[in-house]
Amino acid sequence: MERKFGMEKFVIRGGKPLCGVVDISGSKNAALPILAATLLTEGVVTLHNMPVLSDILIMCEILESLGCRVNFLGNDCIQIDTRNLNNQTVSYSLAGRLRGSFLVMGPLLAKTGYVSISMPGGCPIGARPIDLHVKGLTALGAEIVNTGGSIIARADTLKGTKIYLDFPSVGATENIMSAAVLAEGETVIENAAVEPEIVDLANFLQKMGAEIGGAGTDTVTIMGKTSLMPAKFSVISDRIEAGTYLALAAATGGQITVRNIFPDYVKPLTAKMTEMGIDLTVCKDSITVKSDGTHHAVDIKTLPFPGFPTDMQAQMTALLTVSSGTGIVTETIFENRFMHASELCRMGASIKVAGRSAVIEGKKALTGAKVKATDLRAGAAMVIAGLSARGDTEISDIYHIDRGYVGMEKKLQSLGAEIYRTKEN
Ligand code: UD1
Repeated sequence: MERKFGMEKFVIRGGKPLCGVVDISGSKNAALPILAATLLTEGVVTLHNMPVLSDILIMCEILESLGCRVNFLGNDCIQIDTRNLNNQTVSYSLAGRLRGSFLVMGPLLAKTGYVSISMPGGCPIGARPIDLHVKGLTALGAEIVNTGGSIIARADTLKGTKIYLDFPSVGATENIMSAAVLAEGETVIENAAVEPEIVDLANFLQKMGAEIGGAGTDTVTIMGKTSLMPAKFSVISDRIEAGTYLALAAATGGQITVRNIFPDYVKPLTAKMTEMGIDLTVCKDSITVKSDGTHHAVDIKTLPFPGFPTDMQAQMTALLTVSSGTGIVTETIFENRFMHASELCRMGASIKVAGRSAVIEGKKALTGAKVKATDLRAGAAMVIAGLSARGDTEISDIYHIDRGYVGMEKKLQSLGAEIYRTKEN
């Protein structure tokens, strides 16, 4: 499998309104737990609308390391053949490259009774512990040992039970759901995450024959089965990619239609954009932003769905740097998610970060500069800033952006953007 890492940068000439139509790809955060959940069955699973991104390729490498065969069919279809599953250990060299690697823990444990996985490690946006995953799987009857570098879980049988999550963690809800589908009896997850990606995972598990009720509400009920069958499934579109292009249209004063989306899933964002005075036309599966570049600042607080998504915080911070007035952004999900602030300040933004809040004083325009993508969404924020700024911007470390945006520069070029990928010197 080809992996496109290496030191590359984006070179952007900003200040041009972007116009056109952009098709949104499949959701990375829905695709990762679904790929992991293919381990629950024996046979060939066909997944459509898959975003072929570096994070997805790493998850595929993990599945291959466990004995699965992975076939790429066309641009967005992946087939996983799980019939040769013959390994239950995920190595550090793979787990360390992807936080979401931990999502194989529930399915592998439920299917084989054993899993050993290297700790996914820290992450630039915060510590990201896994205690809720461990607590949930332990409640299902797993014996779990943390050896320091790895987590080892064993269970002859998993038994359904009631699990209350202290926080509605997306990953923990997914891991517990994907284990409980093969447990004996009924599992009830209370204070479960309600993100659209949970609903998509439940839809996929149901296609494989699982019995799940309440996905998308805070109480998910799962009646365990003895086995699941292979299925064909199409992953939902990426609400964060959609939101990024909507913010971009507003920041550059252009007109962009994002297609292939569920407008309800981006409502927490579109509600804020409407509050900012941005003109939006919402249709059945598309949204159009028409902007003359004027919008006013608002306050934003990130929260679990249906609150404002933390994964759109950096992009909206970039938009607020060119809004009129002062906005306060409060990040409640991750403890260290303002690294884009200092990069935006290099472009002339006025941002003061204090603890979990950032105060952003809007300017007429930013000025191009050399900056870096400090993480995935921070990288998207720098692209928005660079395309709206006067002059030239260079964004380094764009491998972060490649983790979550399919063909970003190509999609942007089709909207009229002057953006090029080139090797870093
Ligand atoms: C998922 C998304 C990520 C998004 C996040 C919140 C994927 C692959 N990633 O991440 O893009 O930003 O949801 O919407 O889907 N926590 C604990 N203990 C745990 C688990 C989580 O304390 O066992 C904390 C985390 O440190 C964080 C908060 O809960 O502060 C939210 O994390 P969680 O919802 O689990 O996010 P992820 O599933 O890691």
